[in-house]
Amino acid sequence: MKKSIFVSIMATSVITCSSLALLQNNDGQAHAAAVQHTSTAAANFMNTYGQIQVVANPKSQTVLVNKSYKLPAGYVPSDLVFPNVPFTFTEKIDKRKMRKEAAGALEKLFLGAKKDGVYLAGVSGYRSESRQKTLYNNYVKRDGIKAADTYSARPGHSEHQTGLTIDVAGSTGKCAAQSCFAGTKEAKWLAKNVNKYGFVIRYPEGKDSITGYKYEPWHLRYVGTQVASIVAKKGITLEEYFGDKVATK
Ligand code: DAL
Ligand code: ZN
Repeated sequence: MKKSIFVSIMATSVITCSSLALLQNNDGQAHAAAVQHTSTAAANFMNTYGQIQVVANPKSQTVLVNKSYKLPAGYVPSDLVFPNVPFTFTEKIDKRKMRKEAAGALEKLFLGAKKDGVYLAGVSGYRSESRQKTLYNNYVKRDGIKAADTYSARPGHSEHQTGLTIDVAGSTGKCAAQSCFAGTKEAKWLAKNVNKYGFVIRYPEGKDSITGYKYEPWHLRYVGTQVASIVAKKGITLEEYFGDKVATK
């Protein structure tokens, strides 16, 4: 399937000619992306991230968003709600939100954990593109671009913008979204159980070269129970599930 469209990349307003690519895996799940053939501007971005494609299916619960695939500029999910779970903060702000189906699944996940004596709290759910831009720019200022790219998505490239993702900690908030969360009781429970609720641990340990990011035992991505169970059973990443590899160089 081929189709010419115009897309703009980042805030540089580069207009490039694009075609539609459809990647399909063995299980018949597909994700479409508008492939950009960019020849101008944003050169540094392209050098680090490889060829960038804009996803054509941002609303799909199995949309693949990573360093190679970005969301359409300014994408905001239309069905964001406040999941009824505890957070590490009290304010009713954007980062409490998730898309409706993911929020319902998260509520069930928290109840399941509680039954097993594991008390969880949300840390960071939905993030707008502009919020991601602020965060990413601050990390670059603090740690430099190379380090920032190992743990923070660039604006338009974060799964948090899909509303299908949330960072989770224990109810005390100790080690929230930090490497010391690895190996905790809560991290172990998440690793073993999230797939039953339709989530995957999106950035597993030792898969940096495939996902493009360091291990994040706290970052849960909702994909639905069908995909989550296959990903967990095979011990693979979403990139591998879709037969993709992120170009990080
Ligand atoms: N920490 C993940 C990669 C994000 O910024 O979306
Ligand atoms: Zn995250």
